[in-house]
Amino acid sequence: PVLKSFDLKNAAEYMSKCSNIIVMAGAGISTSAGIPDFRSPGTGLYSQLSKYDLPSPEAIFHLEFFRNNPKPFFLLAKELYPQKFTPTPTHFFIRLLNEKNKLLRIFTQNIDSLERIAGIPSEKIVEAHGTFFTSHCLNCRKEYDLEFVKEVIFKDEIPHCTDCDGIVKPDIIFFGESLPDRFQQCVQSDFSKADFLIIIGTSLQVAPFNRLVSFVDKNCPRLLINMEPAGKATSIWDLGSSSLLYDTNKNRRDVFHKSTCDDGVTELAKLLGWEDDFNKLLES
Ligand code: OAD
Ligand code: ZN
Repeated sequence: PVLKSFDLKNAAEYMSKCSNIIVMAGAGISTSAGIPDFRSPGTGLYSQLSKYDLPSPEAIFHLEFFRNNPKPFFLLAKELYPQKFTPTPTHFFIRLLNEKNKLLRIFTQNIDSLERIAGIPSEKIVEAHGTFFTSHCLNCRKEYDLEFVKEVIFKDEIPHCTDCDGIVKPDIIFFGESLPDRFQQCVQSDFSKADFLIIIGTSLQVAPFNRLVSFVDKNCPRLLINMEPAGKATSIWDLGSSSLLYDTNKNRRDVFHKSTCDDGVTELAKLLGWEDDFNKLLES
């Protein structure tokens, strides 16, 4: 095995010698900031969409559905618009990883920009599913800023292009759209270099993002911090080495730490001897 045992303590010990750590993050790192995730039963977004009368919960993020009926998406966007943008301890832990010269990149599926707001440098961030902060006309590609969209959706209207009247869509990646070029480039340049992978706050249900766990070297440890196991349940995980093996006797390198993201990183910071630096960042 690559690790002596498959717990957080050993993961921390291994991590302390690493300098090219990749973090893969999902909605679970922002729930403590008051932003719901997608798939948690009851609290997740997909269980709260019945009033929109959609063919399926995910339809709200399907490009073709949106072109024909953008209203549900914008109603939801208004409803979910954060009161304030406050990063969580997990965001600050990722910043600390960078300040300790250990962060190669954070690949996030989140569109809330909390990574930037926490002070992680933008060159270290890959927003794999895009961002809400800019928008484009679906027709002529004219760019619009957040203020433009916010003002219109808070009047319960649909943003239309001032030049061509096309629908203006936030630059978040919908099902049916390809991921940003920067995602492809950084996947190419980073994953072969990684010496440690942290997967945090994601159910790993959505491709192609979930496939990235199999792009690190076969001797690269993978630490999952999440409330529930992730990374199985879909057919792509049946392709042998791409499965997270933390719960099988074939495991060599996968650690599952079952906890909230914030508790997990707080414990990890302690194990790494970074408690004071972490607390300083949280107080800043
Ligand atoms: P999900 O809602 O699918 O998964 C969130 C995971 O985080 C679940 O496994 C939760 O148990 C866990 N979780 C929630 N709160 C937590 C906490 N405080 N501490 C620890 N774990 C917690 O969200 P994602 O995996 O991010 O894409 O979803 C991936 C993509 O599906 C999204 O980017 C979005 C969605 O469709 C698009 O819209 C393109
Ligand atoms: Zn236009």
